Amino acid sequence: MPYVGRSFAKINLLLAVGPRRADGFHGLVTVYHAIDIAEDVQIAVASDGHDSLRFDGPVDTSGLSTGPDNLVWQAIELVAASTGQPRPPLEVTVTKRIPIQGGMAGGSADGAATLLAARDALAAPLDGSQLDALAAQLGSDVPFALHGGSAIGTGRGEVLELVSGPQLWWSVVTDASGLSTPRIYAHYDEMAARPGAAVIREPQRADAQPLVDALAAGDPHAIAPLLRNDLQAPAIEFAPHLADTIAAGREAGALAGIVSGSGPSVVLLSATRADADAVTRALREGGRQAVTAAGGATV
Ligand code: C5P
Repeated sequence: MPYVGRSFAKINLLLAVGPRRADGFHGLVTVYHAIDIAEDVQIAVASDGHDSLRFDGPVDTSGLSTGPDNLVWQAIELVAASTGQPRPPLEVTVTKRIPIQGGMAGGSADGAATLLAARDALAAPLDGSQLDALAAQLGSDVPFALHGGSAIGTGRGEVLELVSGPQLWWSVVTDASGLSTPRIYAHYDEMAARPGAAVIREPQRADAQPLVDALAAGDPHAIAPLLRNDLQAPAIEFAPHLADTIAAGREAGALAGIVSGSGPSVVLLSATRADADAVTRALREGGRQAVTAAGGATV
């Protein structure tokens, strides 16, 4: 019987990005929010004695590596190392629903779901904080992907403070072409170095407080004007049509719209599920790929 792990896509309700640090990462203050687009990972001991990784689900995974560089195997090796025992060959299946290079941390969700499934498959004695530490080694967004819900992220995103938030309704517009996260961060630095550009300051945890308070109060109308993404401007320079997508969603009645993470997915907030469905329908009629998603999903 296979062991299973599940993790969700994330969007950033706030993504305040500081200057590039000496280690190449950017200090940031973010408010993560999970939406109910799930990745599922199944792990079983291989019947043929060989490691294998296969994908299924609606996303085209033909460009993805199935080798040791995939975060799935990195997560498995971290869990296996924690047992102090050699691990058996494993058969892994990832059901992929989060777009690749979409700005919704699909790879990070694979890493998190794999940590959960591998812990059980290998009977690793890992508690929650040990899993969080392994997740931080895999990537900045992986600790959040272990939890879901809503959370403040600081450091490079890996230092988490879970916060309470309501279920929110989103129209999620995906894009056939992906954007590379390191490229968008690099473009953010380039834009900041342009003559006349505002000096980037180090974001503070307090920058998240108004949004955290609005989430606790639970009113989408109060949350909408506080959505902010510093990577939106560099993402739109790469993909100018994203600005049109946000405008189209607003015209269809969304309270607010932003690029998700480093893009190119765009998320539009509505007050109710019915409103979100109407926005999603209008975006589809305009030729875009859109789905309605519920925010606040927990693992
Ligand atoms: O942590 P993760 O592997 O997801 O990061 C991918 C890339 O995104 C990093 O190599 C870096 O270029 C960029 N990044 C960054 N600052 C962060 C998070 C990611 O510059 N806080």
